[in-house]
Amino acid sequence: MEGSNNSGFVRIAVFCSGNGSNFEALVRASRKRKFCGEIVLMVVDNPNAFAIKRAERLKVPVLFINPSDFGSKKDYEKLLIKELSLWKIDWILLAGYMRILGPDFVKKYRFRIVNIHPSLLPSFKGRSGIKDAYEYGVKVTGVTVHFVDEGIDSGPIILQKAVPIREGETIESLERRIHRVEHKLYPEAVRLLLEGKCRIVGRKVVISG
Ligand code: GRF
Repeated sequence: MEGSNNSGFVRIAVFCSGNGSNFEALVRASRKRKFCGEIVLMVVDNPNAFAIKRAERLKVPVLFINPSDFGSKKDYEKLLIKELSLWKIDWILLAGYMRILGPDFVKKYRFRIVNIHPSLLPSFKGRSGIKDAYEYGVKVTGVTVHFVDEGIDSGPIILQKAVPIREGETIESLERRIHRVEHKLYPEAVRLLLEGKCRIVGRKVVISG
């Protein structure tokens, strides 16, 4: 599963809808050569996303396509696929992208789309993984990096890291600690993927070396 185009150079697009802190962590990691790929594009679906400001600061090109300009998700994603192939994108990293990708899109990039989720999947899927875990009262939550399939937060798990919830901790403190873990775990997962160290066996990701 080593990922590279014909030139042997891995080109990555990061999809965002909001803050973009994972995007920034990924760009910084790639520039420090923590993994052998370059983030050549940010895709956003929200013109007000703070992630755009981060991309401008980091000099990463931004592609904004407004989903509401299209009659259907299929049409929106058709244009997205066209743009991604013009940009010669090999890998797609979702980082706070608040849309469910359609089946055609997932099929086109199967095992080349990765997501980060702020809980220990399969617990607390969906939009508010941190809050849901906190309110449920679990003592341990965490972060999951996984492949994207047709479901919601349901694809094969690449890496996970547990984050214990401290007695009396506020949700803001938990959020900060989860994000700190995310900013390390996501680049590490990308490194393993791009070095060809992840093999898919059934629905499991087996990591070697
Ligand atoms: C992260 O918590 C990520 O796990 C989830 O959305 C959040 C995005 O944060 N999918 P940011 O936009 O990267 O700061």
